Amino acid sequence: MKLFDVYPLFDITPVRGEGVYLYDDKGEQYMDLYGGHAVISIGHSHPHYVNMLDKQLRQIGFYSNSVRIPQQQELADKLGALSGYNDYHLFLCNSGAEANENALKLASFQNGRKKIIAFEGAFHGRTSLAVAATHDPSIQAPINENANIIFLPWNDEGALRTAMSNEIAAVIIEGIQGVGGVRMPSISFLKSLRTLCDQYGVSLILDEIQSGYGRSGYFFAHQYADIQADIVTIAKGMGNGFPVAGVLISPDYKARHGLLGTTFGGNYLAATAAIAVLDVIKEERLVANAANVGTYLIDQVQALPGIKEVRGMGLMIGIDLHVPCAPLRKRLLEEYHIFTGTSSNKNTLRVLPPLTLTKPQADIFLAALASCLKLTTVNI
Ligand SMILES: Cc1ncc(COP(=O)(O)O)c(C=O)c1O
Repeated sequence: MKLFDVYPLFDITPVRGEGVYLYDDKGEQYMDLYGGHAVISIGHSHPHYVNMLDKQLRQIGFYSNSVRIPQQQELADKLGALSGYNDYHLFLCNSGAEANENALKLASFQNGRKKIIAFEGAFHGRTSLAVAATHDPSIQAPINENANIIFLPWNDEGALRTAMSNEIAAVIIEGIQGVGGVRMPSISFLKSLRTLCDQYGVSLILDEIQSGYGRSGYFFAHQYADIQADIVTIAKGMGNGFPVAGVLISPDYKARHGLLGTTFGGNYLAATAAIAVLDVIKEERLVANAANVGTYLIDQVQALPGIKEVRGMGLMIGIDLHVPCAPLRKRLLEEYHIFTGTSSNKNTLRVLPPLTLTKPQADIFLAALASCLKLTTVNI
């Protein structure tokens, strides 16, 4: 049997990871400033994470949500304390798309409405409602077409005011748009969104799947605007590579048995991986580290010649060139062994390193970027 060929691949076979580094089958070292789409939060194969998962697997790996799994409550307690969403309830599932699917369903269950507002440039996943709320027709099959989704321009308060009504079930918005090119919602836009959602009884869903878990230098990116969401979705950095996701739900939403469900969500291993991640984030003060090293990196990149714009916060950084970034990205990987990412804007390079990144490691990237930029600009 062959693999269904949907991914363009680098000709690299990582066999080991340690912190910010990957090692391939030939023993070559790579610096990972992308974390496999923002997934690696505490660094590859962190010893605490490995020990906890190893110990858990030797005891019990899985049972369904028909029995008590104490690790789930430990996870909820630790997540509540670190995120500031202590009084919210946690529903555990397996992927970002599934978290958003459940969040949108929950909003519609809550107020009985059908329409959803999403934004231009949004990415919320590839399952039916999540992909319908994703602003990319190329990944929507005809069956995903959904007349209930309204796309509005980014950061446009006027358009938002006009579109809001008593028919809207939810607004879904990323804390910082990731795939869309690391685009920040303005503070005033987020504040207006909160006010308008309250005014019309609309659920405000913050998709923190990429921007959450300390990446922005806040636990959740939207917290920089000092607003609270009704529902927050999480995945990626939550499990540092173990598939785990969640929905944080305001206490105003009443649960009933059977309302939501999943077979694998919150199993022993998934919950343990997520607990280990939170332990390390707290112990190693990784939210503060993301803020410090991120600010340094953003300032330094901004000063380089050939850069059009740098966007983002903490260790979620979008670097805009005047030209497509593919040649630069290729050089960074092939000549300097540094992984970076792309975005839907071909001129935007996405940098999403583990939150453990140090300034000396950031300097290695800056030196490589500076020398690649000279060559790239000359050769285009
Ligand atoms: C903001 C955002 N939401 C949702 C998703 C979907 O997550 P998953 O691929 O785990 O389904 C992604 C993935 O890139 C994302 O960046």
